[in-house]
Amino acid sequence: MEQMEKRTDYCGNITTAYLNQEVNLYGWVQRVRNLGNLVFIDLRDREGIVQVVVNHDSGQSLMAMADSLGNEYVIQVKGKVVKRSSINPDMKTGEVEVDAKEIIILNKSQNPPFEIKDNVEIAEQTRLKYRYLDLRRPALQKAIILRSKILRATHEFFDQNGFIDIETPILGKSSPEGARDYLVPSRIYPGSFYALPQSPQLFKQLLMGAGFDKYYQLARCFRDEDLRGDRQPEFTQIDMETSFTDEQQVQDYTEGLLKKIMKDVMNIDLKTPIPRISWTDAMNKYGTDKPDTRFGMLIHDLSSIFKDSDFKVFSGAIADGGFVKGIAVKDGAHKYSRKQIEQKQDYIKRYHAKGLAWVKYEDGEFSGPVSRFLTAENKSALIAEFGLQGGELLVFIADKWKVCCDSLDHLRREFAKETAIIPQHEFDFVWVVDWPLFEYDEGFGRWIAAHHPFTMPDDEGIKLLDTDPHKAHARSYDIVMNGDELGGGSIRIHKRCIQEKMLKALGFSKKRAYEQFGYLLDALDMGFPPHAGLAIGLDRFAMLLAEKDNIRDVLAFPKNANASEPMMHAPAPVSDQQLSDLGIEVEEQYQDSVAKIENNLKIQAEKDAARNTTWD
Ligand code: AMO
Ligand code: AMP
Repeated sequence: MEQMEKRTDYCGNITTAYLNQEVNLYGWVQRVRNLGNLVFIDLRDREGIVQVVVNHDSGQSLMAMADSLGNEYVIQVKGKVVKRSSINPDMKTGEVEVDAKEIIILNKSQNPPFEIKDNVEIAEQTRLKYRYLDLRRPALQKAIILRSKILRATHEFFDQNGFIDIETPILGKSSPEGARDYLVPSRIYPGSFYALPQSPQLFKQLLMGAGFDKYYQLARCFRDEDLRGDRQPEFTQIDMETSFTDEQQVQDYTEGLLKKIMKDVMNIDLKTPIPRISWTDAMNKYGTDKPDTRFGMLIHDLSSIFKDSDFKVFSGAIADGGFVKGIAVKDGAHKYSRKQIEQKQDYIKRYHAKGLAWVKYEDGEFSGPVSRFLTAENKSALIAEFGLQGGELLVFIADKWKVCCDSLDHLRREFAKETAIIPQHEFDFVWVVDWPLFEYDEGFGRWIAAHHPFTMPDDEGIKLLDTDPHKAHARSYDIVMNGDELGGGSIRIHKRCIQEKMLKALGFSKKRAYEQFGYLLDALDMGFPPHAGLAIGLDRFAMLLAEKDNIRDVLAFPKNANASEPMMHAPAPVSDQQLSDLGIEVEEQYQDSVAKIENNLKIQAEKDAARNTTWD
């Protein structure tokens, strides 16, 4: 049996502290350079790279063996740490090298399909097919380790604060969080399905009913929704729930957690309390409920300035109950040509914007197509409203409130990126509070809960549930970081009568409400404590802290943009026997697609088998 001698330390930790010591290292061969009388091996592990040197003194056979090593061979190196003649200040191990006395090949490697280093262009499909190689790259190792540090800090925080870690089922029943469920067919009850949890929302509420007044869990959640850079079908929430608390206390716990994570993982002292902004202010100033507060360029309401404008696009929109809103782009006057500005109209059409009006302000003069409509009063009002200094580009949207918000949110972020005013390596948190209880979903064509149906309305909102529910406000809060929604939570409804009214306002019949949530309504009637909680998207948080653009880069084995996984090939067809055990038949119309996938898998397996010749 192979005995593994204890490693002295990671390759990446071999510094001058080990000078003149004998060390035993394990790692992967990053590259081999043969200079004739010397062979250098860059040896890599999760902590970094150390240079190993083999010279004539070590003997001809060791030289030959070092020279024969291929990239990604796994080797053991025994040798002495010595000072390097040419210091590499960019490497932690750059002042030393390991003078090898013995090298043992633990395993060989085929030539990998891509080089194991950062900043190389590799197709997503290839990265995911060879994810174990992709994960060997230093940036991904760092991101996965960062994620682990967040997990550790989270467990420590909740443990220190008296929270109980309780696991809730993965096989459950659908709980409405707004996305489609992943369903799992039951073998024992053919035709019936479990749903994978979109979040443990109702379980955690029921745990409050059970008396576990401080719960937390690192909960796996599953949502079948269109994927984006910050969404995966399977993700992890830092989920918590507390009894006998209010908004302030839940926010205090959250801030304590964030403070600890920022300190432990990033060595940053997060200032608390984190600023609060109301949902309405966020929408009016930033055009979005997840404002990026790292930079200004706030949206201004210019309706009172333009209500009598001769420019009918402006005065007409206001007369129709709409608004004229705008932003000022510092130094935008000379940075943007007419063509570049006009091109921005195309994108904002998706928000139903009819156009984009603009002027430039330079040397005390306004120019651009709309400037001829500006009266002297308009001009001085704009100068005062935006505090114009000269050199600005002003862009205006005249439309319904929501169209103004959506378009200017997009434009603000795009102009900020293009003019490079977003501070880098900065993490800006903000609480968005005082949300509406409902929002109108254009896709569904009906009102839905803005957070979820278990969120408590404010006092006024409770009264409105009977008369005008869609005007009600919610006792909910979101935590936002750098323009991304990190997490959200709310005070929950703990009284049956309010929960019934809420479900009614959402269009549930009494029968359907009891079919779906009878257990909750019953529980609320049996001594249910007031309770509140929140969940943070761990993957998103890790992505932002690792300063990655895609959540994939902080997950060991993510799905691609089409929700599939090209290494193990999931999802994949299953055997007829498995289907028949579950009482499931694939419809005629999908059989071609199943056959195609099966065929692709077969071709792939044949190719893989042909490449690997060791079986017989
Ligand atoms: P919510 O639906 O807002 O609230 O989700 C909480 C947080 O989870 C993260 N998140 C996601 N991360 C990656 N991929 C996804 N597909 C995805 N969907 C959501 C986000 C989000 O802010 N039960 C409530 C919380 C509560 O009220 O306590 C809930 O799930 O960062
Ligand atoms: P028009 O009068 O349609 O030729 O538009 C004159 C300018 O106003 C063009 O630059 C349009 O893009 C812009 N514009 C048109 N509609 C709007 C609107 N609703 N909001 C802002 N600008 C608009």
